[in-house]
Amino acid sequence: APASEGDPHPKIFIGRLIHSKSLKDLEIIPRGAIGVTTNGTIAFVDSKPATPEQLQARYASDGFAHAQVTTLTKSQFLFPGLIDTHLHAPQWPNLALGMEGTLREWCENYTDPMEASYSSTSKARRVYADVTRTTLALGSTTVAYNSSIHADATNILADCALKAGQRAIVGKMCITVGSTHGNWEESAEVSLAESEKSVRYIRSIDPEGRLVHPCVQPRGGPYCPPELMRGLGEQCEKYRTYVQAHMCETQSDIDRTLELHPAYKCYSDMYLASHLLHPRTILAHCIHLQPRDLDNLAASRAGVAHNPNSNTCLRDGDCRVRDLLDAGIKVGLGTDCSAGYMPSIHDAMRSASNVSRNLAVREGEGRYVLGFSEVVWLATMGGAEVVGMEDLVGNFERGKRFDALVVDVEGVISADAGLWDYGEGDGEAMVKKWVFLGDRTSIRKVYVDGNLVAGQDASV
Ligand code: GUN
Ligand code: FE
Repeated sequence: APASEGDPHPKIFIGRLIHSKSLKDLEIIPRGAIGVTTNGTIAFVDSKPATPEQLQARYASDGFAHAQVTTLTKSQFLFPGLIDTHLHAPQWPNLALGMEGTLREWCENYTDPMEASYSSTSKARRVYADVTRTTLALGSTTVAYNSSIHADATNILADCALKAGQRAIVGKMCITVGSTHGNWEESAEVSLAESEKSVRYIRSIDPEGRLVHPCVQPRGGPYCPPELMRGLGEQCEKYRTYVQAHMCETQSDIDRTLELHPAYKCYSDMYLASHLLHPRTILAHCIHLQPRDLDNLAASRAGVAHNPNSNTCLRDGDCRVRDLLDAGIKVGLGTDCSAGYMPSIHDAMRSASNVSRNLAVREGEGRYVLGFSEVVWLATMGGAEVVGMEDLVGNFERGKRFDALVVDVEGVISADAGLWDYGEGDGEAMVKKWVFLGDRTSIRKVYVDGNLVAGQDASV
């Protein structure tokens, strides 16, 4: 079970708070406080400097008179938990391998045989325990997981996330055509039945949806014929699940999709007609979009998982994040492991920044550069919107769940950078240096739903 820090006491954290208020507004509170109830709800966010005793008195009527107080050091700050909107758990053993080919070559040479091997539940147990523990330690308090075609292995992934105390969206991958190495199911009926088995199982282990949520998961247009897409749309409606899928990753992805679905002129029309495009839909990539795709994404409130590391590795092209944001489309960051080699959203912030700069150079348009506050937004609040949890997590607001990181820049910033005698204005330099220079050891504590579940300083 996740470790608890002196539960069932309410907690007060005192120290520097850094979080996104909006795309352009990164709020830095030099000496603030957050109160967290015993059930993990943020009861107050106070930006006035105060002693533990003053805070306990100020919020006594909210139950904080005897709250356990944690005071951060001057090299630490509290940051919202990171949200990985797209990761393929079964591909974990392939991290950093298979970086030679295009999307299709990579799928056929590396991904299909690896995913097919999860007919072994003992392998699933081994790998998925490691995936959930490691991503939590890297600060991903919420992950939208893609799985393999196997219901049993998928259910183990959901068990692992719940046991580790991670917020997660999990579903069984559906594939009946267009795949290799036996990585497909024999019919739409079988695929739908197995998918439903996973949806029902995942609901049963967390009936209130405290942490783990089911999704339907058509791999993408080339892999699910129309009757399977329609069936998954019905299943999604019946159980009110999330949807995870790929869209417009390469021109070949689009061509193969329109070949298998000749009734449609663009990729997103196919998802829309199958009832798979709505506010609980997460679409990976969305690089090569037609104007109509942009309209469909904006109108449906489906979200985009932007995977900068993966898009670079597979040479997919550049996602025009600026155009998506300007169109009012929800965007978050994904690692897309193992097409992306780095399972860290902390690192994805750097990749997103770099990819946006390369795009700006190529287009000769500076507006494509994502600013610092924007990459932080994408990693936290943007991700929260994409996973439909913007009222629950993503920043520090009263009433939200406490999903947070204690970050320490000691050892990241050299002592003579002048940041140690920090006046109240140095928080911006600290968070920038952490994003671009920090590593996993700077993530000292990871809280999900108010529980301490991982981090360098957590004995879990
Ligand atoms: N398209 C179909 N399957 C995959 C996958 O596993 N990763 C990525 N990036 N694209 C895909
Ligand atoms: Fe993917």
